[in-house]
Amino acid sequence: SVYNNQQEASVAVANRIADLIRAKQAKGEKAVLGLATGVTPIGVYAELVRQHKEAGLSFKNVITFNLDEYYPMKPTAAQSYVTFMYENLFSHIDIDKANVHIPDGTLDKDEVVSFCLAYEKQIEELGGLDLQILGIGRTGHIGFNEPGSAPNSGTRMVTLDDLTRRDAARDFGGKADVPTKAITMGIGTIFKAREIILMAWNKKKAPIIKKAVEGEISGEVPATYLQLSQHVEFVLDADAASEL
Ligand code: GLP
Repeated sequence: SVYNNQQEASVAVANRIADLIRAKQAKGEKAVLGLATGVTPIGVYAELVRQHKEAGLSFKNVITFNLDEYYPMKPTAAQSYVTFMYENLFSHIDIDKANVHIPDGTLDKDEVVSFCLAYEKQIEELGGLDLQILGIGRTGHIGFNEPGSAPNSGTRMVTLDDLTRRDAARDFGGKADVPTKAITMGIGTIFKAREIILMAWNKKKAPIIKKAVEGEISGEVPATYLQLSQHVEFVLDADAASEL
């Protein structure tokens, strides 16, 4: 769907998440959410916080799994996705901190593989992700699944693309300080979610959205794999949709 602006689109996505949480609450069940970082979902998180404060939306039955984290990365660092998630969402809602999962950027190299397998297993044991929200990088990455990622990839350590590191340079005070690696859920992990919403705003994303939605399905643009799924929705503002 295409919205006039990102504010309207963000509220629509937040409402979908709130509806899911309430539907699960009504059945006495947990909602398992896959969450994303970056500037794109900030408005969604702000609206969820607003609904928590003003409309009594509770997150007590919510379990979250974040897509990715830089590696190495201390959770307390300003650029960590842990800091991002607490600042934009978790510190302002009533979620049980034990229900929050974010890939661990502090692991030793030899602990990464078992951590990633355990991450997949935790999601699976909860019955899978009910809803995964995604942004998109200008390389066509989802999570940190850069060009070359396999469609059935799982959670793993990856090397960041040069363009991704250039785009992140602003947050790190220069590209040299952007980590070269990250831990990310795989394309396969994302695909198993029962519902996927990819969001994009602004002109800057228009070319990659055109490729993701209309381009040939290929590992060169990992987001094109989403064309193969029956339960993906692209939520765009008019600018991001302007080349479609
Ligand atoms: C980062 C994140 C992605 C995100 C992308 C786009 O690299 N790992 O999950 O979708 O960048 O970021 P933004 O929303 O800031 O444009």
